Amino acid sequence: FKVAVLMGGISSEREVSLVSGKFVFESVKKNFDAVCITLDKNELPKGLSSQNTIVFPVMHGEYGEDGTLQKELEDAGFAYAGTNSIASRVCMNKPAAKFLMGAAGLNVAKGIAFSAKEKPSACAAAEMLGERLILKPADKGSSVGLKTLNGKAELEAALSEISEGMWLLESFFKGREFSIGVIGGKAAGIVEIIPEGGVYDFKRKYTKGATRYEFPAKLSEKETENMKCAAEKAFAVCGCRDFSRVDFLMDESGNFIVLEINTLPGMTPTSLLPKSASCAGYDFDGLCKKMLEGAIM
Ligand code: DAL
Ligand code: MG
Repeated sequence: FKVAVLMGGISSEREVSLVSGKFVFESVKKNFDAVCITLDKNELPKGLSSQNTIVFPVMHGEYGEDGTLQKELEDAGFAYAGTNSIASRVCMNKPAAKFLMGAAGLNVAKGIAFSAKEKPSACAAAEMLGERLILKPADKGSSVGLKTLNGKAELEAALSEISEGMWLLESFFKGREFSIGVIGGKAAGIVEIIPEGGVYDFKRKYTKGATRYEFPAKLSEKETENMKCAAEKAFAVCGCRDFSRVDFLMDESGNFIVLEINTLPGMTPTSLLPKSASCAGYDFDGLCKKMLEGAIM
């Protein structure tokens, strides 16, 4: 068989995917007969045969991560790495994933999901969530479109700029930030994310040196165990397959919430899954091999 590494696409995370894809392809080709395919539209590339091709989607965001590509792969009979179409769709939709994780007994941030067609009033939102808020698109990754808001006036202004899509407003959560890779259903190491002066936004995610990472994170044995257990629970209840990455916030008292789950996590040099995996003994090549394992077997 051949492994086809797919990257690019036209989502808001195309550039991230091009970097992830490049690194994954360089690695995969050491161990497998591999091709790398850059997508410039939201369509399965022509000429791929499900007879002898295993697909490794290294795509982020709309189409490649939201289950649309996965549905096309399923319909065409491809073996592919990662979560299936239905669960990918659920996980890409932050409010839907939060609902499932909350139903499984995990703590999630208090929030209001809404569509541009029916926005909440700033007063009602602030009353429910407080005056310090995070506003983000409900179905995008890499913090694209994320805003931190302070007070009703800022919230009102931000809401008035919204003209399309689904959105999520959450209470601002002051505390430490963590992420855990779940590989084959098992939690790898915990990575602590320490953005240099501010919010872990797109720039701090992908600029070398803009964020400090500590892995394994300095947490007590109990905290480590609880957070890893929550990551595995999130993975299971959301129906993930092969691998994912679960993001967390923790307050000063050690209470933590699950922020979200990412079914096709970044694989760039600043990305978190490779860091988490390294704590469990996977170097980058070993991780890529493991990510493909389920599709190959
Ligand atoms: N959405 C980006 C790629 C991540 O979760 O790593
Ligand atoms: Mg994400």
